[in-house]
Amino acid sequence: MSQFWADLKASTDPGLLGVVRFLGLLYGPIEHNLPIDQAWRKALSYRLPAFVGWRHALGGVTYLLFVVLVVTGVLLSFYYRPSVQEAYPSIQHIVSEMPFGWLVRDLHMWSANLIIVAMLAHMARVFFSGTYKPPRETNWLVGLLLLLVALAFGGTGYLLPWDQWAYWTVTEVLQTMSRTPLLGIVPAVLQGDVIVSGATLSRFFAVHVIILPWVAFALLLFHFTLLRKHRIAPPPGGDPDPTNGVPFYPNHLLRSFIVGVVVLAVVFSLAALYPRPLGDPANPFELPAELVSSWIPVDVSLALIRYLGVWGFWLFTLLGISLALLPLFDRRPERRLRKRPVMLVLGLVFFAGFLVAWFAGRQLRSLPPGARLRTEASERFVPPDTAPEGVRRSPTPERSGTGEVEP
Ligand code: HEM
Repeated sequence: MSQFWADLKASTDPGLLGVVRFLGLLYGPIEHNLPIDQAWRKALSYRLPAFVGWRHALGGVTYLLFVVLVVTGVLLSFYYRPSVQEAYPSIQHIVSEMPFGWLVRDLHMWSANLIIVAMLAHMARVFFSGTYKPPRETNWLVGLLLLLVALAFGGTGYLLPWDQWAYWTVTEVLQTMSRTPLLGIVPAVLQGDVIVSGATLSRFFAVHVIILPWVAFALLLFHFTLLRKHRIAPPPGGDPDPTNGVPFYPNHLLRSFIVGVVVLAVVFSLAALYPRPLGDPANPFELPAELVSSWIPVDVSLALIRYLGVWGFWLFTLLGISLALLPLFDRRPERRLRKRPVMLVLGLVFFAGFLVAWFAGRQLRSLPPGARLRTEASERFVPPDTAPEGVRRSPTPERSGTGEVEP
């Protein structure tokens, strides 16, 4: 080994060797005061229970997708401009002129979709194995907040391309929220104008790139700290690992690496094969002929409303909320699934229902705008001086829309 280093030293450029020595001089005192090497070795030799297997990789997959979202999101933010005049052209610039800009954008878009699937799969694993029960109920609730944060990330990011599909879908969602008890606070805070406009875009952007990342980091830290405290739950009915467990490296790291490579291969392939097209630039005075969805929660909502009606949509949402709040009520220590038939049925209805709705929603991806949006769009044509009392005035173009359309 020492011969190898001697040969390497002899064949290395002296300038480069100088830089390495200099870095070594800097690193020495740092390592002395802050033993990074020791901490690194300790982390790698951390022992996990022997029962930790492939199904426990789902949390890691979610984390990996989160990292992809952060990296691609930071790259996009170098070129994206959050204003009515520049948002759409800046996305066009990213996808058609920046090297691999199209790939970065579609990796971001696909990871935003897959993270919802990964989170629900992770949640289903935790739900069916009953590991949401004490003492892990706080971590279940922290996980739920993470799910809400992921939905908020997707919802605020949805508007940013500022094309017709984004504009009118967000208009419809905000309108529905404003008519729903408790949810009305969201448009009240985020819309910032009588209609979706430049003010809305600025707010969505600020929430998407400043507020939510900090909240997500804090929640992730909390999630992992609690996980470390309670350790991973043993299988239902099984004993906690009687052995001393297995080291994180190489046992679990190798498994995580394989899963990570597969996930990255899937995301890259989807991004390369199925890019999200850009609609026409947003125009607040003209409805598009169809609304094309690009995010799983929108697909699911479309299918639920189309096939089960608005009541069906709210019933399904209520089922999701009650499952989410379950740990507050279901505190019996029993975790075996066959002893929890009600949970089994409720869980199957929700998770399988979500999958079915997702696939059905994909068939409905391009739909003509609904009646409410058509009414809303036709109201916007009323010229300000002829508008009767109570009818919404057309907004001023510089505050709303593309800034190019005369009301
Ligand atoms: C960004 C989102 C999330 C990340 C990165 C994440 C990550 C992880 C990881 C790495 C684990 C340990 C391995 C495993 O059990 O898979 C874990 C465990 C856990 N997670 Fe999550 N998670 C997220 C969201 C959620 C959600 C949405 C829930 C439920 C609502 C949840 C509830 C739990 C619980 C209760 C445990 C402990 C499970 C046990 O001990 O068996 N997590 N999470």
